[in-house]
Amino acid sequence: MNDTSVSLTATPAWHDLKAHHQKIHDAHLRQLFIDDPKRGERLTVEAGGIFLDYSKNRITNETLRLLVQLAEQCGLRYRIDSMFRGDRINITEDRAVLHVALRAPQTASIMVDGENVVPQVHAVLDKMADFSDRVRSGAWKGHTGQRIRNIVNIGIGGSDLGPVMAYEALRHYSDRSMTFRFVSNIDGTDFAEATHDLNPAETLFIVASKTFTTQETMTNAISARDWALKGLSGDPKAVARHFVAVSTNATKVSAFGIDTENMFGFWDWVGGRYSMESAIGLSTMLAIGPGNFRAMLDGFHQMDEHFRTAPFEKNLPVLMGLLALWNNNFLGAHTIAVLPYDQYLKRFPAYLQQLTMESNGKQVTLDGRRVACDTSPIYWGEPGTNGQHSFYQLIHQGTRLIPCDFIAFAESLNPLGEHHDILMANVFAQSEALAFGKTAEQVKAEGTPDWLVPHRVFDGNRPSNTILAQRLTPEILGRLVALYEHLVFCQGALWNINCFDQWGVELGKALAQRIVPELEVKTEPALGHDSSTNHLIRRYRKLKGTPQEPV
Ligand code: F6P
Repeated sequence: MNDTSVSLTATPAWHDLKAHHQKIHDAHLRQLFIDDPKRGERLTVEAGGIFLDYSKNRITNETLRLLVQLAEQCGLRYRIDSMFRGDRINITEDRAVLHVALRAPQTASIMVDGENVVPQVHAVLDKMADFSDRVRSGAWKGHTGQRIRNIVNIGIGGSDLGPVMAYEALRHYSDRSMTFRFVSNIDGTDFAEATHDLNPAETLFIVASKTFTTQETMTNAISARDWALKGLSGDPKAVARHFVAVSTNATKVSAFGIDTENMFGFWDWVGGRYSMESAIGLSTMLAIGPGNFRAMLDGFHQMDEHFRTAPFEKNLPVLMGLLALWNNNFLGAHTIAVLPYDQYLKRFPAYLQQLTMESNGKQVTLDGRRVACDTSPIYWGEPGTNGQHSFYQLIHQGTRLIPCDFIAFAESLNPLGEHHDILMANVFAQSEALAFGKTAEQVKAEGTPDWLVPHRVFDGNRPSNTILAQRLTPEILGRLVALYEHLVFCQGALWNINCFDQWGVELGKALAQRIVPELEVKTEPALGHDSSTNHLIRRYRKLKGTPQEPV
């Protein structure tokens, strides 16, 4: 089937799912587990070292059968094949979407406009590896002959979130003699705090920007150049030893003053939020070394192959995508909490926010019609167990249904006494408590006075997935990220939206460009905004001490 215009809500499977939902919406996980004592073993799937237990979702065999049918009727297979073969599926920008080519082995062939892009991908990887080796070994010297000890990545969105998440996630594998910092925010504090204790003679900036036009990144890059030159006797030749660029835009890179020899390229068929394994991951490679970086790519590729070839019933990203859609569109759960029980994954929820919501936060279908159902849920989260002492109260007893993705590892990278068993006990306890809760009878049986009983009841029936792997390695991180990339794709394909554009960020950007001169001009500007915006601008100008009266 190649019909990309089939509306999800017009498919027979959608209607069947609606009817099915009516039948089972009162079913409780307690009963579902009693009815099928093997449910917890049966509703699991494993691929490439990632084990998913999805038994604590409010589904039956019939739900799964219908969801898979829905995927088939919406042409998911065709969509997957279409992405992998390089079709221009990002129709509003007329681009192919080939992050999967970034992790394809050297022997693969993936064609874009009649050219196999895999050799280009590996040429950039080799250049990154050569550069990383030189920096890590000290062969690459700064302007004054000192070795580089500090790396500062300047980028935002996909040019920051992937690198910072991967650095934090793989810190265990990083060169501890080097310091890594990440500057993204236009707020000068970000730059100031990231650099205040660094020696310019030992600092290398990576200016990471697909377009090399992003306001935040270019402003930070200019401040970085000023900071570096100030610390290096103002010699412009220092830029070549202390700045490299990662971009698709060689013209802009060279206009900034960075030698394109020191530029690491990528391609318009790589979306910003899908770019952490391209040259955008240069800081990751500098931290963990080329070998570990390639292991991460291999992990991505293994998940790609699983996604491309596994039957939907056993396909991790497809199952997780369908379950998320079920929870969102049928059970009315509007958010998903991602709860990694691993401190190294502390930035994973932030990374997923861009991946999921910039991809699927869309209101029109590919053919420009208003979508007929809700699209992306809101992703959020914190590492366990911290969240337990914060927002879990709402997940357990609040009025909203919040499906949770628990992510945990059998082995700690930092074994310390009983810590890991206690951590894991908490993962298992939380999903158990969410699913099964505690009835009024159970609470009463504990001797709780009647008036207190309602406060201590846990309804349960709150869905969760548990993802379990052996330990957090570069390879597993690659698989995990690819898993989420593809489950986002599955949902987008079913909603028939474009996961790969981001027009929603444009309006605010354009308005800010217009407002900047209104804040900076010395004389009172004529303002043409609404009364609230005009008033806020005037108040700000007054607070910072610029003239108020028109001249
Ligand atoms: O937020 C919009 C966006 O275009 C993201 O999609 C992208 O990751 C980010 O800005 C940064 O863009 P660039 O890498 O071109 O600086």
